[in-house]
Amino acid sequence: MTGLFFVEKTEQLADKVYQMWVRAPHVSHHAQAGQFVIFRIDEKGERIPLTISATDGDSIRVIFMTVGKTTTHLASLRTGDYIRDVAGPLGRPSEIRKYGTCVLVGGGVGTASLPIIARAAKKAGNRVIGIIGARNADLLILEDEMKKACDECHITTDDGSRGFHGFAADFLKRVMAQEKVDCVWIIGPAIMMKVTSECTRPAGIRTFVSLNPVMVDGTGMCGSCRVLINGVTKFACVDGPEFDAHQVDFNSLMQRLRMYQPEEKESLEHYQAHSCTCKGGDPHA
Ligand SMILES: Cc1cc2nc3c(=O)[nH]c(=O)nc-3n(C[C@H](O)[C@H](O)[C@H](O)COP(=O)(O)OP(=O)(O)OC[C@H]3O[C@@H](n4cnc5c(N)ncnc54)[C@H](O)[C@@H]3O)c2cc1C
Ligand code: FES
Repeated sequence: MTGLFFVEKTEQLADKVYQMWVRAPHVSHHAQAGQFVIFRIDEKGERIPLTISATDGDSIRVIFMTVGKTTTHLASLRTGDYIRDVAGPLGRPSEIRKYGTCVLVGGGVGTASLPIIARAAKKAGNRVIGIIGARNADLLILEDEMKKACDECHITTDDGSRGFHGFAADFLKRVMAQEKVDCVWIIGPAIMMKVTSECTRPAGIRTFVSLNPVMVDGTGMCGSCRVLINGVTKFACVDGPEFDAHQVDFNSLMQRLRMYQPEEKESLEHYQAHSCTCKGGDPHA
């Protein structure tokens, strides 16, 4: 939808991770867990997909990591600024139903997707266990919110600076050894989703992942978000972004994510060279 979408609030949550509340009633009134929006900051801007992390009245929250030009530009916006286009809600909602015990595993900024799923899963009558993983304590996000949304919530860090020392996948195995798990969501970097979803495969536990291929139109027309699911081509924007983890070809996803890296690097360098708000990739530096 084209218009001017008011930025109500921005906040830095962790290194390179920001949250932003934007007034977008056409999205907030219809959004369901698992769906996303496509932002275009201005007329010349690229379109980028971001998960709807929360809604409140007429507003939506997105949480993003600055990885390239557009996310760096987005992080430079302040309360009172506007976003040109906010399209959504897009994608199929999470398959929420009464499974029994659900474990929600978040890696890094992927944790942004979890509280809205946790609340929906609880409302459907599930027992919900959260696992938030990060490289170190400084990179953890949404801990308090997840503790409120879940029946129990655990922290893991790769370096042991908070919570369980190790990967979220190791903690998931520990939970599975202690109790019956009926359904798992894993949302994070592609490599983390690939490795972690192998933990649930042997036991045949229903496992969802949210895929993050490059997207352009978000309507199933351009084909840029194609992913291989059980050997069949699907479009993540309309058929996903959530898929059965055990059917996803993660290797082709990771290969496609690397495809435009030289152009993305050039675009960020050009933006940094021409932007007065930005120093060394971090607009807040
Ligand atoms: C459905 C969906 C939901 C998403 N939700 C979120 C979210 O809630 N928060 C968030 O931070 N990001 C999210 N992403 C990823 C986000 O869209 C990209 O990080 C963003 O488009 C990068 O734009 P850029 O111009 O800043 O960087 P670019 O210049 O496009 O890329 C810079 C670097 O980031 C990598 N990259 C580019 N696109 C992606 C991608 N889609 N996934 C992973 N790495 C990528 C590239 O390989 C490159 O190394 C989501 C992606 C999808 C498909
Ligand atoms: S983004 Fe174009 S088909 Fe999915």
